Amino acid sequence: MNSPIVYVAMSGDLIHPGHINILKIASSYGKVIVGLLTDSAIASYKRLPYMNYDQRKAVIETIKYVDEVIPQNTLSYEENIRKIKPDFVVHGDDWKHGPQEKTRQNVIATLKELGKGELIEPPYTEGISSTQLNINARAIGISTNARLSLLRRLIEAKKPLRILEAHNAISALIAQNAYGEPNGIGNGKIEFDGIWSSSLTDSTSRGKPDIEAIDLTARLTTINEIFEVTTKPLIYDADTGGKLEHFIFTVKSLERTGVSAVIIEDKIGLKKNSLFGNEVIQNQDSIEDFCLKIAAGKKAQVTSDFMIIARIESLILEKGIPDALKRAKAYIEAGADGIMIHSRQKSPDEIFDFLNQFRNYDTSTPVVVVPTSFNEVSAKELANAGANIIIYANHMLRAAYPAMKEVAEGILKFDRSKEIEDKCMDIKEILHLIPGTK
Ligand code: SPV
Ligand code: MG
Repeated sequence: MNSPIVYVAMSGDLIHPGHINILKIASSYGKVIVGLLTDSAIASYKRLPYMNYDQRKAVIETIKYVDEVIPQNTLSYEENIRKIKPDFVVHGDDWKHGPQEKTRQNVIATLKELGKGELIEPPYTEGISSTQLNINARAIGISTNARLSLLRRLIEAKKPLRILEAHNAISALIAQNAYGEPNGIGNGKIEFDGIWSSSLTDSTSRGKPDIEAIDLTARLTTINEIFEVTTKPLIYDADTGGKLEHFIFTVKSLERTGVSAVIIEDKIGLKKNSLFGNEVIQNQDSIEDFCLKIAAGKKAQVTSDFMIIARIESLILEKGIPDALKRAKAYIEAGADGIMIHSRQKSPDEIFDFLNQFRNYDTSTPVVVVPTSFNEVSAKELANAGANIIIYANHMLRAAYPAMKEVAEGILKFDRSKEIEDKCMDIKEILHLIPGTK
């Protein structure tokens, strides 16, 4: 008689005694098939796994209680249950409540519909969990190379990536630890996938205009402070990239620091912020020269993971979509790993138009968008239109400034601080905000 088939789904990233207990119990019922969640299945509801699918598979298939490992492409078990029609499905009883409740309901309903298969729910092993191990891992930090390579892995596994601006360590900590549950997206909580080092907010927080006046050394100091307290990847706004000969050194310095990608914009001369558009004099670089800069940067990088993303300013400068598309094609041919298309319109129409035409002939090159002015459109909608990375480019700084202004003026108005205390964080709270303060 064939032995019964037992199905166990898992991420298998941080294997601990709780997993082994489940697999051991599962093997007592029959032949164990592990449905190993793919990177994109995991990334759809939590952070990217530390190990990629093949690495996790290599670990799981050597466990003596496991007979076979197959991919589970979604959070839901349904596809695999219908395919292999197991006699048993095994999962710890912790999923009866909390975010996995719906997945469990679906397993029960699918088994019922098939008229075959029993759900076994052994008691959860107390005292250890992947969540706690993940907190411990985050506290240890991340190596330079591991952080650098995260962005490419995330682009592969997830769409869209949501990136939030940070201009110092505290704003980066907020970006790293923020969770939200967007309406209608389902799948529970989401988080930001990385950090944007913005030339605008890095300049503004130093009281300087956004005209390439802050040198690389100063900006790298901020990035190092950010990296000391976070583990997420960072995308660096390098403005025009400067002179080709200087850009080569910028690439090497960013890579050495663990930055994942640099974005350079196709402007020359004194750079002004794009959101001014044609209110100020801004000149676009020639396609030929900008391609040379991209190619020189690509040649200079040491790792294969670092990305150079070319930012197209044609829509900002009202040169039209055909010009933007022509440039996208040329920049990609010159070696760009991705493109950013910028717009300062209130409506996202021209961005949708560009994405539509671009995706007609290029389905793979990652596209970055920055919905500062067209802020009604959601990240999900932009992703559905073909964008991969959505950058919220200045919101941490813009949020902090009005609060500080109100408090400063309030102290003067009342000649004491009592009236503005409710606008401020409690002093005890700030003392406990950063681990290790006490
Ligand atoms: C930045 O954040 O500095 C940017 C995006 O380059 S924008 O300000 O919209 O030009
Ligand atoms: Mg900028």
